[in-house]
Amino acid sequence: HNHIDHATPEKVLAAIAAQDTHAHVQDYEGFDAYAADGGYATLKDLRKNGNWEDVQASVKESGLRGLGGAGFPSGTKWGFVRGNVGPRYLAVNGDEGEPGTFKDRYYLERTPHLFLEGMLIAAWAVEAETCFIYMRDEYPAVLQILADEIAALEQAGIVQKGFIDLRRGAGAYICGEESAMIESIEGKRGMPRHRPPYVAQVGVFNRPTLVHNVETLLWVARICREGPECLNSTELNGRKGLRSYSVSGRVANPGVYLLPAGSTITDIIDACGGMADGHVFKAYQPGGPSSGLLPASIHDVPLDFDTLQPLGTFIGSAAVVVLSEADSARGAALNMLRFFEDESCGQCTPCRVGCEKAVKLMQADTWDQGLLEELSTAMVDASICGLGQAAPNPIRMVLKHFADEVSDGADKGSTT
Ligand code: NAI
Ligand code: SF4
Repeated sequence: HNHIDHATPEKVLAAIAAQDTHAHVQDYEGFDAYAADGGYATLKDLRKNGNWEDVQASVKESGLRGLGGAGFPSGTKWGFVRGNVGPRYLAVNGDEGEPGTFKDRYYLERTPHLFLEGMLIAAWAVEAETCFIYMRDEYPAVLQILADEIAALEQAGIVQKGFIDLRRGAGAYICGEESAMIESIEGKRGMPRHRPPYVAQVGVFNRPTLVHNVETLLWVARICREGPECLNSTELNGRKGLRSYSVSGRVANPGVYLLPAGSTITDIIDACGGMADGHVFKAYQPGGPSSGLLPASIHDVPLDFDTLQPLGTFIGSAAVVVLSEADSARGAALNMLRFFEDESCGQCTPCRVGCEKAVKLMQADTWDQGLLEELSTAMVDASICGLGQAAPNPIRMVLKHFADEVSDGADKGSTT
C-alpha cells in the first residue's frame, strides 16, 4: 500500500519562503472577488443536483480538446476514467515546460479560480478522491497564488483540507509527460511509462487518473457556466473554437493571445502588432521545439489541431516563436536538439544516444543528410515517449525547408 505524503499549502509556502525565490505576485482575482462574481455557484449546483453525463455532453458539444498539446477530446477522456473502478484521482499537469509556452502561467497569475473551479467540476464528474496539482517550480508566483487560494477554498468549506494536493516540480521537462509526472508525484524519478495501460486506467498509485492541463480545466469552468457556445461559436477558416497562442520572438508585442483556432501565422503576427522593428519574417515554430520550424512561405494554414499534419508537424501547446532574417534556422534547430539532449530522461537508447549524436552531426559545417535522416527514423520509430519521437522534427524540417543553410560553405549561423 502506498503512503501519500500530502503537501499542504502551508508546506509549499514554507518551501517558497525558505528558497527565497522572490515570488512577484501581481494583482489577480482572489477568492472573494471570484465568488462575488458568481464563482463556485456552478460547482455548488452541480454537486447538489448535477448529472455528470450532462456536463460531459456539454464538454463534448463545446469541442474541448486537451490544451497541453495533444488535443485529446476531453469529454471522451472523462468517460474512460469513469469507466474504471474507483477510487479515482485527478492530476493537473501544470509543468508547462515546452519552450515558448506560457499561457497556463498567464491565466493562473490572473484568474486562478477559474482553473480551480474547473478542476473541482472535473473532479466531481469523475468522482476523484484527491486532486494533485503538479506545478512547475519555475513559477514561484503561481505556487504562492495557488497555495493561498487553496487555503481560501478550505476556509470557505468548498474543499476539505488535503483534497487538493499541491506538488512542486523540480525543473525536469520530462516530468510534463503525464506518466513521468505521475512517477514524480509518487516520489520517484520522473521517467515515462510504457502505454498501454493509459493513465485513465492505471495512473497515480495505480488508480484510474484523469490528467488534464491547466487551461483545459479553465475551459471546463467556462463551459459549465456560459454554455458550450463560449468555445464552439467562433469559426474561422473552417475551424471552430479558440486557441491561446503564446507568442514570442521577433514580434512587436509578444504575449498570450486568445484568437480563433483557425488563425494563421499572418493573423497571429498581426495580433502582435506586426514584426518587431527592423525584422523581416523568415520562419516560425508553430508549437514548441517538438514541432520544428515552418518557413514564412507557409503562412496561410490555420494553426490548429490536425491542420499541420500534412506538413509533418503539429500545433501542440501553440507555443509560436517567430524568427526573422536575422536568425539562423539551423542554429535554432541545433538549440532545440541541445535542449532535448539535456532533457532526455535517458531511459531508452534511441533518444538518449540519438539526441547526443544529432547534436554532434548538426555541428558539422555540412550536415550529413543521409545519416541524420536514418537517425531521425530510428528515434521516431523506437523511442518510448513523445520527447524522443518528436526530437528529430527540427532536423527534418530544416532539411526540408532550409536546406541552403546546411550545405557546404553555408553560414553556420548564430545559435543564440
Ligand atoms: P497522447 O496523444 O499520447 O495523449 C494525450 C492524452 O490522451 C493523454 O492524457 C493520454 O493518456 C490520453 N489518451 C490517449 N489515448 C488514450 C486511450 N486510448 N485511452 C485513454 N486515454 C488516452 O499525447 P501526449 O504524449 O500526452 O502529449 C503530447 C503533446 O504534448 C504534444 O503535442 C506536445 O506538443 C505537448 N507538450 C506540451 C508541453 C507543455 O508544456 N504544454 C510540453 C511538452 C509536450
Ligand atoms: Fe526518456 Fe527520451 Fe525515452 Fe522518453 S524517449 S523515455 S525522454 S529516453
